[in-house]
Parts: sequence; C-alpha cells; structure tokens
Amino acid sequence: MPTSRPVPPTLVDANRLWVNSRLRALAQRRIEAPLLLRLGGRVPGGQVLELGTGRRGTGLRLALEVFGAGHADGVERFGASVAACREAVRDLGTRVDVQEGDATSLTAAAAAYDAVFGYHVLHHSDAWRDVVREAARVLRPGGRFYSCEMTARFVDSRPLRAVSRHPADGDRPTPEGIAAACRGAGLTVVGQQTRLAGCWTALVATRP
Ligand SMILES: C[S@@+](CC[C@H](N)C(=O)[O-])C[C@H]1O[C@@H](n2cnc3c(N)ncnc32)[C@H](O)[C@@H]1O
Repeated sequence: MPTSRPVPPTLVDANRLWVNSRLRALAQRRIEAPLLLRLGGRVPGGQVLELGTGRRGTGLRLALEVFGAGHADGVERFGASVAACREAVRDLGTRVDVQEGDATSLTAAAAAYDAVFGYHVLHHSDAWRDVVREAARVLRPGGRFYSCEMTARFVDSRPLRAVSRHPADGDRPTPEGIAAACRGAGLTVVGQQTRLAGCWTALVATRP
C-alpha cells in the first residue's frame, strides 16, 4: 500500500498558488473542458451538478457556456469557498446555484442530473470512491460523469508533496482506479485520455 502521508509545505504553498488562480481557470477552459467535450459531448439544456467548485466557479461557467447546460448546481465542502464561488458566478443569475455540502454524501435525489462534473475534486476528497458512487447515483439513465484529475503519480510525487497538502487516505486516484471505480458504481466508461506521463487523466462515463 503506497503511503500518501502529507508533507507540510516547506517552500511555497502550491495549492494556494494554483487552485482558484487565473492560470488554473485558463487551463480548465482551454485544455480540460475541450477534452471533456470531445470525450463526452454537450449537455444541451441539461440540469448539471459540479462537485467541488472551488472559489472561482469556473466549472459552473463552463457547464453553461461550453457544454450548453440549462442550469448548473454546485456543491462545495468549505463555507468560505461557497461564499466566494457564489460571488464569482453572480452574473450567471438563477442559472447557477452553489450550496455547501459533501460530495461523498449528496442530498440530491437519485437520477436528478443529466451530467455531473468533477474537476480535481477526487484527489482532494477523503473518500474519493464515495464521490464517484454519489455521482453515479444522482445521474439519470443516459447521464454522464465528466472527470479531470491529477493522479496518484503526481500528487504523491516528492516535489508535489513538498509544496502541497492532500488528504492522507493512502488511496489516491489513478487513471485505472478512477475507471474501475466508475465501473464499480455501475457506470460505463465511454472515453478516457491520460497525459503527462500518467500524472493527469480525463474521463467520461455514462449511466446505462
Ligand atoms: C483542487 S480544488 C478544485 C477546484 C475546482 N474544481 C478546480 O478545478 O479548479 C478541490 C475542491 O474540492 C473541494 N472538495 C474536496 N472534497 C470535497 C467534498 N467531499 N465535497 C465537496 N467538495 C469537496 C475542495 O474544497 C476544493 O474546493
């Protein structure tokens, strides 16, 4: 079992510099969303959910602008991030709604959504397999789970562990692990691309 004990940041806090940054939003818009779109297609007029919105709400914005969703809900674990995210997407009006909540135990009804998006929420979650299970539960038949993640290979690498904190659950997402968790949750993987020598993966899975 690989250890994933977090090492306190010693040089710079990479999470603070990267997560919620403009550069991160640009990477999400220019690289991640287009790839997810190629793998899984649009969700025209759909009701969608984003897990772990962060403070900028870029995923919610992309759900509407790039994927064509009609309404996007967001669930974020930390109250301060919920407040910041609401402020960041205020211009989108009633087309978005952000609530504090835990992606491992969603309050949404089963089959409530046409799509669920998760950008880098799995490797920040204490029990990421439960997040996948919950995503599958709230998808309607034919609905799709869109996921982009940094993988164990990167998150547990010495350089990254030196400058960032992640949950110490000893079970990081790998490309194969995420695909297997989707299958275990009853989803069918329709496309996956892994890049950067296995450090990053994008996957789309559908609920039969
Ligand atoms: C690395 S950030 C990614 C933020 C944004 N999605 C992005 O891609 O830039 C991970 C986010 O997931 C949130 N998160 C972690 N575990 C969560 C959980 N169990 N439920 C909801 N949000 C969670 C964190 O608070 C954080 O905002």
